[in-house]
Amino acid sequence: MVDFSDDLRLLQAEGLLRDPTSEVPTARINACSNDYLGYGREPVSRATLLACEGAGTGAGASRLIHGTAEQHLQLEQEVASWVGLPTALLFSSGYAANVGALQGLCGSHDLVVSDALNHASIIDGCRLSRAKVAVVPHLDPDALRRALELPGARKWVVTESYFSMDGDSPNLPELRAACDRAGAGLIVDEAHALGVLGDGRGLCAQLDVVPDALIGTLGKAVGAQGAFVASSETTRTWLWNRARSLVFSTAPSPVVATLALTNVRRARDDHDARARLLELTRQAWSELIASGVVQPAATQGPIIPILIGDNERAVQVSNELGRAGVLVQAIRPPTVPTGSARLRVTISAAMTPDEVRELTRLLTVALRGHM
Ligand SMILES: Cc1ncc(COP(=O)(O)O)c(C=O)c1O
Repeated sequence: MVDFSDDLRLLQAEGLLRDPTSEVPTARINACSNDYLGYGREPVSRATLLACEGAGTGAGASRLIHGTAEQHLQLEQEVASWVGLPTALLFSSGYAANVGALQGLCGSHDLVVSDALNHASIIDGCRLSRAKVAVVPHLDPDALRRALELPGARKWVVTESYFSMDGDSPNLPELRAACDRAGAGLIVDEAHALGVLGDGRGLCAQLDVVPDALIGTLGKAVGAQGAFVASSETTRTWLWNRARSLVFSTAPSPVVATLALTNVRRARDDHDARARLLELTRQAWSELIASGVVQPAATQGPIIPILIGDNERAVQVSNELGRAGVLVQAIRPPTVPTGSARLRVTISAAMTPDEVRELTRLLTVALRGHM
């Protein structure tokens, strides 16, 4: 039998071992989920259960075989109109959507210019495409423009709109203009912006930037599961033919699509939750800036990264907070670059101002001994 004990010991020595949990994590304050509007943690309502009545529990096949259900088509229409693009194609997760979009759109003779801090699913999609990939330093428009001068049958730029581990954003209008000058396509992953930023529609819609493909996830602020790639009709048809994570995978369960549709409509219209989230986010940033835990940042959104550097120290602080009843994950390589381990604090509309005050107080106490 193959044995991984030595490999696990090596991970442990590097401070990179993650133990699979055998318990459901519980805490007084959960500051590490992407459930920005608080929907995911709510028990399913009777109204939602009723809406699911009659929907198939499983799609039974890939969309291309006989897996398409009315619920998929409705959900696709709803998310496309929410983000302001002509069509959308549903995937079973954001990971599958990014891998499928990049592998499907970018050919082996193409050039893909990718931000150094793009999510693993984008990186894996780039690899699967077999395109030439130019990784450019994070949010460096000059490097990006220079990279776009490299040869490629088609050229692409891929970026997150609100970076998951850093809570910052590229200048999307500038990226679109650079793409247009180079004849390149723009692919934007709005995983952490959808439902949260730009009045919930994401940053492309807010800034009037039309990407060639927009990836939105339904498992974060929307509080369900799945994801979509929104685009023109022809791009959708191309992905339908070429995106392997769509073609060779069973379509999402119609029940889950119904649940997602219910939550998409709610997230689209729930400006009160977004206002609450904004207010709690402002409070958290201002308290953490006042106590010297973070510096003011250009984007002060619900993702608050607190850089620590050392892997073990980040885990110690996270454990200390855990003992005090606060869930804040230590984010370590390979999720972030080596030497940049951090606490990633996320704010949710489900928190109360008192909980945010307690969170920032405990963070300040825990970090005092470790900065
Ligand atoms: C930027 C980004 N894109 C895509 C994904 C993948 O989304 P999902 O969790 O729906 O697979 C994530 C999830 O962590 C993410 O942070």
